[in-house]
Amino acid sequence: MIGQLNAIEQEALAALRAVEAGDALENWRVAYLGKKSPLMTILGDLRALSREERPAVGKRGNEVKNALEAAFAERVEAIRREELQHSLTAGALDVTLPGRPIPHGRLHPHTLILREMYSIWAEMGFQVYRARDVETDEFNFELLNIPQHHPARDMWDTFYTTTPGVILRTHTSPGQIHAMREYCPQPIRVILPGMCYRYEQISASKGIQFLQMEGLAVGKNIRLGDLLGTMSEFNRRIFGPERKSRFRASYFPFTEPSVEVDVSCANCGGSGCNVCKHTGWLEIAGAGMVHPIVLKNGGYDPAVYSGFAFGLGPERIAMLKWGISDIRYFWSNDLRFLEQF
Ligand code: DAH
Repeated sequence: MIGQLNAIEQEALAALRAVEAGDALENWRVAYLGKKSPLMTILGDLRALSREERPAVGKRGNEVKNALEAAFAERVEAIRREELQHSLTAGALDVTLPGRPIPHGRLHPHTLILREMYSIWAEMGFQVYRARDVETDEFNFELLNIPQHHPARDMWDTFYTTTPGVILRTHTSPGQIHAMREYCPQPIRVILPGMCYRYEQISASKGIQFLQMEGLAVGKNIRLGDLLGTMSEFNRRIFGPERKSRFRASYFPFTEPSVEVDVSCANCGGSGCNVCKHTGWLEIAGAGMVHPIVLKNGGYDPAVYSGFAFGLGPERIAMLKWGISDIRYFWSNDLRFLEQF
């Protein structure tokens, strides 16, 4: 029986040395110190032994049990230390490494150009007036002197909604009526920035969704010269003091007379190049003196008041300033484009 105990001890200690990890440890404990282990079976059955054998077997049995328990505790501790050491080296962190840069967001070129334009117009006394994107046919067309079936409607390919008479605005001009009706009879100097929508073939220069910035000045004794001077000054401030302005007679139903505003090409200085299609000039706005019918629709007496209005294309201005070749970049969400600003 003593021999059996010695053998158990030898075998258990050898097995314990081979144990490497947590769950194997528990298996070892059950096998050698568990209730049904050979050692415990012997210790639990001492009474079956003869009186002579009993004390020696009991003593040796307890010695083996103590030895195994001590060895087990030691192995548990050793494995715990090994595992800790392993996790320290494997997950080692070099605290002297430089930190990783935190990526910074940037302002979208839409935002940048709008802010630049806001500040120029603010310096000239124009405040921002916000009008709605979803408009009625009445405001988008009729009150702007574009009745049903007027041929000028062909200038604006319209997105309709399922509600009759409700459309997506094709230009920011309907905001003129909202502003006039709100401020009448006070003098007005506002810009009206916002998205416009047109049912068009998308191309490098045309989108179905794009920005416009309307401008409106209403008061007494406002004349065409005020419009020309104001637009020339805007061109100098946004494109640089060297820039010249040119005005060409044009037609819009809501202005009379109407003009198109050109700025001298910054790329070639006016001598002609690819950017200006060899004309030396770039078109940046439509403008004119507010039509008497439109003034009246806004609540102003055209015999007493007059005004000018203009419609600028912020994307086009951004494209000219920053050499952007395709308007589709603005909606592309391409970081290679956006990170340049
Ligand atoms: N609403 C015009 C368009 O979208 C642009 C425009 C032209 C606005 C002349 C004006 C203006 O205020 O006077 O094509």
